[in-house]
Amino acid sequence: MHDVTIRTLNDMKARGEKIAVLTSYDASFTRQAEQAGVDALLIGDSLGMVVQGHESTLPVTLDEMVYHTANVSRASERALIVADLPFMSHNDPLQALASAAALMKRGGAHMVKLEGGTPQMAVVRALTERGVPVCGHLGLLPQSVHRLGGYRVQGRERDDATRILEDACALADAGAQLLVLECVPALLAAEITRAVSIPVIGIGAGADTDGQVLVLYDMLGITPGKRPKFSKDFLAESGSIAAALRAYVEAVKAGRFPDRAHCLA
Ligand code: KIV
Repeated sequence: MHDVTIRTLNDMKARGEKIAVLTSYDASFTRQAEQAGVDALLIGDSLGMVVQGHESTLPVTLDEMVYHTANVSRASERALIVADLPFMSHNDPLQALASAAALMKRGGAHMVKLEGGTPQMAVVRALTERGVPVCGHLGLLPQSVHRLGGYRVQGRERDDATRILEDACALADAGAQLLVLECVPALLAAEITRAVSIPVIGIGAGADTDGQVLVLYDMLGITPGKRPKFSKDFLAESGSIAAALRAYVEAVKAGRFPDRAHCLA
């Protein structure tokens, strides 16, 4: 058993101690991130963009997720390992169970993450009832980028904000044990964090969630093209990858990241 389990994250939420999460896709960065003290590692399907060079996460396959999750879990000794269920790998409970089994049995994941609220409830219930720990993902849903018409902040309108809040509560009721909130207004993220008992990890969601996650290549400043406004290049002011990872973890734990410059209006 790794040092960090979902119980550790629950205790951290209860104590008000911030949770530091990073994405990771391979063994070497995993070792460095764990030495820096990250609590959880997310094998995000963002690897489709930052590792594979696609325009979105949609082309990423389940086998590719299993491969990268196995790379991370072989090197990991401490952190909770969360792996994304990729696009169209969990359309119904049976397919979701088979996909989660691949990520956990072949990849070594401790938890699987899936995007979306109400339409996912049957899948979340099926997974959790059979012992698969689930992390929800609300707000900006990168797998729905074409439906949303781009990567943009979600929940600015009152109706949308209410829907996201209700989805968060419904996911927790259905058994989800962790929640990622991406690109929502800080006040909404704070309200959701108070409303649910499970830990909430924000990305572009302000400073008042239980923890933060960033895409590793964004926070090292090596993602090609335009990086999201809420992300910070920690390597630029640290001088080495190890120091940048430590600076990120320390800034999250101290509540210094995100600062005003890295919060979305
Ligand atoms: O795929 C990913 O890296 C993610 C994060 C942006 C939270 O889902």
